[in-house]
Amino acid sequence: MPIVRTVAELRARVAAWREQGERIALVPTMGALHAGHISLVEAGRQRAERVVATVFVNPRQFGPNEDLDRYPRDEAGDAARLAAAGCDLLFAPGVEAIYPPGFATQVRVTGLSERLCGAARPGHFDGVATVVTKLLNQARADIALFGEKDWQQLAIIRRLALDLDIPTEIAGCPIVRDADGLALSSRNAYLDAGERERAVALPRALQTAAAAIGAGRPVDAVLAEAKAALVAAGFGPVDYITLSGADDLEPMTGLDRPARLLAAAWMGRTRLIDNVAVTGTGAY
Ligand code: PAF
Repeated sequence: MPIVRTVAELRARVAAWREQGERIALVPTMGALHAGHISLVEAGRQRAERVVATVFVNPRQFGPNEDLDRYPRDEAGDAARLAAAGCDLLFAPGVEAIYPPGFATQVRVTGLSERLCGAARPGHFDGVATVVTKLLNQARADIALFGEKDWQQLAIIRRLALDLDIPTEIAGCPIVRDADGLALSSRNAYLDAGERERAVALPRALQTAAAAIGAGRPVDAVLAEAKAALVAAGFGPVDYITLSGADDLEPMTGLDRPARLLAAAWMGRTRLIDNVAVTGTGAY
């Protein structure tokens, strides 16, 4: 699998495939690839003849006290995993290829970016929106695939593609979980053995709460119980655990439209996020 580092090389490869009438799928990542990312490549292969993955640890989506420097990096391992999954091309640009000197533009999706993780990580989603807009414009793929684990990110990317008339279809793919239910994440590598064991309380609390809300129990009480369960399991602080509209991410107190239960909480020095769908009987 070839690796290219410039936008010109990326575009030349994509153009050659397009001339042959082939569809192109894009899988943007920050590397440290796990089975969740590979499921995106596999989904891309179902939807297009060619799959391009990108690996770029985007400095603009890390806050000043976040983990940019210690974010796991393993390009050779990532490339091997992508090749084994049938990926056709890896675009792994350096920072200067994405943000050349004089770069002065920022994409901000207002509203959606300020809630939930946006409240705890100011500027994070502006960095995500800016780099994803660039990657979509650079690759001009037919479809781009993102994991549903980053549900808020996915909602923001859908919005920006719509608002900026980007013709690439944005597709969400189901969360991939370890056998005990913990959602796969590159940041799970930061957990020590004890933290990793306790972290399973996050998907469990979400599943329990989703079932209770789906069965008609009052949302506030259920969320308070879920938060208490997380704290009892060793999480803290809990940045949020909330029932939100699946598309608008506005808080909900009842099931009047498609809903998502989302949470972010700290296990030691590691901030974990997760989310599940909530469905009720005849709710809407
Ligand atoms: O989800 C990620 O890995 C990143 O936020 C993304 C979408 C690749 C943008 O840097």
